[in-house]
Amino acid sequence: MPTITRRRLLAGAAGLTGLAGAGLATAWGTGLFDRAPRLLDPHDGLVGRVEAARHYTGATVRAALTPRPVTLDLGGPVVQTWGYADTGPGPLIRARAGDLLHVEVSNRLPVTTSVHWHGIALRNDMDGVPGVTQPPIAPGGSFTYEFTAPDPGTYFYHPHSGVQVDRALYGVLIVDDPGDPGRYDAEWIVVLDDWVDGTGRTPDDVLASLRSMAGMPGDMGGMGGMGMETMTSPLLGGAGDITYPHYLINGRTPAAPVTLAGKPGQRVRIRLVNAGSDTAFRIALGGHRLTVTHADGFPVAPTGADALLLGMGERADVTVTLADGVFPLVALAEGKTGQALAVVRTGGGDPPAADARPAELDRAVTMTATLRAAEPVRLDDRRPDGTHRLELGGGMMPYRWTVNGATFEHAAPLPVTHGERVRLQFVNRTTMFHPMHVHGHTFAVAGGGARKDTVIVLPDQTVTVDLDATNPGQWMTHCHNIYHAETGMMINLGYRA
Ligand code: C2O
Ligand code: CU
Repeated sequence: MPTITRRRLLAGAAGLTGLAGAGLATAWGTGLFDRAPRLLDPHDGLVGRVEAARHYTGATVRAALTPRPVTLDLGGPVVQTWGYADTGPGPLIRARAGDLLHVEVSNRLPVTTSVHWHGIALRNDMDGVPGVTQPPIAPGGSFTYEFTAPDPGTYFYHPHSGVQVDRALYGVLIVDDPGDPGRYDAEWIVVLDDWVDGTGRTPDDVLASLRSMAGMPGDMGGMGGMGMETMTSPLLGGAGDITYPHYLINGRTPAAPVTLAGKPGQRVRIRLVNAGSDTAFRIALGGHRLTVTHADGFPVAPTGADALLLGMGERADVTVTLADGVFPLVALAEGKTGQALAVVRTGGGDPPAADARPAELDRAVTMTATLRAAEPVRLDDRRPDGTHRLELGGGMMPYRWTVNGATFEHAAPLPVTHGERVRLQFVNRTTMFHPMHVHGHTFAVAGGGARKDTVIVLPDQTVTVDLDATNPGQWMTHCHNIYHAETGMMINLGYRA
């Protein structure tokens, strides 16, 4: 297994072709140093100096992750897949802001892997992008991630290798705020997922059939005749490429859902994570109104909502005051057929039907991009020093997605300078929505909008975001539809050397 040296990482196309030739090209991360300006090495001393300057509590949180083949009972269907745990999502990792996380990853998969800490403004060499910030973790190999987590919030972790996240390779990372008054009585973690693995196709099979459409120009599209529904939604336009047989909350189908138990009158904080790969979810709790308090971990001006839409990679924290009885918590697969469900129980009564559809789902739907940042996390008004425009392109036939007309391996990095205020304009030229994610930074949706790391860009829409370039390194910026990212819709936001 070749090791990427610093020299090789920055050597440009030749070294990277070598990596691809060695069969390591499944990472979302080879080739970015073609035609690059002089870019900062992820292992540069500056990365360590910025890390050393971060607030550090002196405490270390230790965890171990073993990605491996597992058999999961989804509540009826029993599937062979890859996961970090024998049930549902991977282990919860929980730290306080400023703690050092020390996570040993032992790869028991038959393929290389990596772990990316989605949303965390961490040191670049721990960002988990194989071929860019580290070598891929070989089968039987291991890698230790060690970084401080500076900002409180709800985050998650997943591989940055191929379409592995569309298996059970994901888990939640919570960074607690020691100063948070915690005005709630209980906390629930709700992880949403779209599920295909072990039902006759793996995510790699799905990707292969999407790609094979390139060779079938006469085909009318839609998974090469796999009976695709028309996946459109008034909220999103083109809402997805893949028909999933199951939608899950915390690893369970609606036929055998998890129960979230509480007491009437309790105030509960629900941390919602969309770990899906091709599905946005419209979320509501029957008989309740939600108050959205955080988007992608950062506080927003508390906003009432009947229903909330979360794209892939987005998180939201909501609070709710529990009524007395039994209620469906439903996450509708937006623009698709099917839903995920959990049961909220505070009293007696029959459980809701698997296809329960609370009326709240059909009331006004809150889109997280419209939320306002809470005052303490509002990005100050400052003129951007530079703007990068990212035109999102591509489509189903051939199955290929681009930024500025190029797939990732051909896309010139977007250079940024340490200390600058950078404006990004996501311009969607396609008929599908794209949840665009930036690694290592929490941008502000322009005009006092929410601080976020993932934002939905609707068809024909432009979303403008600003960020402070205070975390030097090489940072992937991509669609969090994993199939879009894997087939090209990714670019490097690269700090100059
Ligand atoms: Cu969850 Cu590159 O992202
Ligand atoms: Cu996309």
